[in-house]
Amino acid sequence: MIALRTIAAGVLAGAFLGLAMANGARSAAPGETLKDAAAFSAIADKHERSVALFSEAMKVIGHPRCVNCHPAGDRPTQGDDEHPHNPPVVRGPSDIGAAGLQCPACHMQRNTPVLGERIKSVPGDPQWHAAPIEMAWQGKTAAEICAQIKDKTRNGGRDLAQLHEHMATDHLVGWGWNPGAGRTPVPGTQKQFGDIIQAWIDTGAACPAN
Ligand code: HEC
Ligand code: HEC
Repeated sequence: MIALRTIAAGVLAGAFLGLAMANGARSAAPGETLKDAAAFSAIADKHERSVALFSEAMKVIGHPRCVNCHPAGDRPTQGDDEHPHNPPVVRGPSDIGAAGLQCPACHMQRNTPVLGERIKSVPGDPQWHAAPIEMAWQGKTAAEICAQIKDKTRNGGRDLAQLHEHMATDHLVGWGWNPGAGRTPVPGTQKQFGDIIQAWIDTGAACPAN
């Protein structure tokens, strides 16, 4: 009974906070398509082309599938409206939950279908945990995220080649294209996204003004 009430309170809080948390990072309307890197070759100015490529990449980076797991607070978020995670969980000292209620308690090795009215599946991955706080994207503008992901003190010590490698091949990133029943995938394919990031790096990895 207590547990049920807690969850119900969380649902309500989520409905309100979800609205309040509408943010600048989400540049992608779910269902949007991703352009090929080649589509930008017509932009003659290299800096301008680089900025345009990053803005295209933001359709993925700023998508709720990614942002939900790069939360700005202690609690991950859920859904296309980025409401607080339900049931309430916290990142804990190692971003994998509090002792006794860690992410893998519910998030299995792979997406797990559930026979629910509202929830069709629980996301899964062998490494399921939240991005560390210095990698938080929620509520940030494209310019802020761009600066942050290039900053070795906030991106896990990656140079640009390693940043590309992560975007193009990482499994948790890849989950965005395979998010399980009942969730909108990020647009395009991971290969297309990796190519956009590479083209962005090749043109100087420029950031948008805002
Ligand atoms: C008590 C069970 C439980 C625990 C523990 C748990 N989760 Fe979840 N999580 C769920 C369920 C159920 C869903 C699916 C909810 C939905 O789709 O509405 C979910 C969904 C999510 C999503 C949303 C994906 C999306 O884009 O909509 C993220 C992100 C997430 N969890 C992260 C975490 C992280 C990080 C942890 C550990 C700190 C964690 N969860 C711990 C049950 C749990
Ligand atoms: C299940 C949670 C989860 C999801 C979903 C997720 N990430 Fe992450 N992300 C992490 C964790 C954890 C790290 C830290 C891993 C590390 O540094 O090795 C991270 C780190 C990163 C990094 C490197 C550090 C930085 O911020 O520059 C990038 C880039 C990144 N993620 C991109 C994405 C993109 C793009 C998506 C969506 C397509 C995504 N992530 C979805 C958990 C997630």
